[in-house]
Amino acid sequence: MTKLLYITANPKAEEQSYSLRAGRAFLNAYRIKQPDVKITELDLYQDDIPLLDREVFDGWAHLQHHTYESLSPAQQVKLARLNTLLEQFIAADKYVFVTPMWNFSIPPMLKAYIDAVCIAGQTFAYTEEGPVGLLKHKQAIHIQARGGHYSDGPLASMEWGDRYLQMIFRFLGIDAAPSIFVEGTGIQTNDAEQIVQAAIARAQEAAMNFASASIAE
Ligand SMILES: Cc1cc2nc3c(=O)[nH]c(=O)nc-3n(C[C@H](O)[C@H](O)[C@H](O)COP(=O)(O)O)c2cc1C
Repeated sequence: MTKLLYITANPKAEEQSYSLRAGRAFLNAYRIKQPDVKITELDLYQDDIPLLDREVFDGWAHLQHHTYESLSPAQQVKLARLNTLLEQFIAADKYVFVTPMWNFSIPPMLKAYIDAVCIAGQTFAYTEEGPVGLLKHKQAIHIQARGGHYSDGPLASMEWGDRYLQMIFRFLGIDAAPSIFVEGTGIQTNDAEQIVQAAIARAQEAAMNFASASIAE
């Protein structure tokens, strides 16, 4: 059974977020096409995503020569949670990332999550030819809402969120489907709902392709 990890990085209520609305439409369409998919939802603003702070680094250093039980209780909780997030990420076959553009990029909780799952020896490895991704036969898609228009035109070079995520996918060895953008809603405010509906239609179509995309064993 395909395991799909639906990762959202937005503190807003779903009905107040363009990206979350498009993401939900994607997910619903996917489920129709592939009902036996196992979907896990990870809300990076509700679920516990530990930051890589002093406690975590000291904990990792401590584990080089000591047992897990000898970590402080707080360190045990953080390291166990980071490990759970990593295992969950590795176990998934498909990833749907849903984000708003914040200051030309992604919200900080998604960066925290990326730091939790990009781990040498687990999701990528250093080799003589340079780093290689260890997550083979997996697919990802990114759905992002932006107030302005960045997919082409003069602002395209100021976009750092989707391009960063695409680079992370490549780095980890994950195949990426074309992203879905809900963009321009902050400029063409009167047309916002129309823009969202068009993006929802594109998301539903993309979900069909994403569900059909085979995962080579
Ligand atoms: C903190 C913050 C930063 C933002 N930065 C940008 C930006 O750099 N460029 C842009 O076009 N829109 C920006 N916006 C607008 C959002 O991208 C836009 O409202 C989008 O619809 C948010 O996605 P959502 O509706 O899923 O929450 C920003 C909004 C917030 C709250």
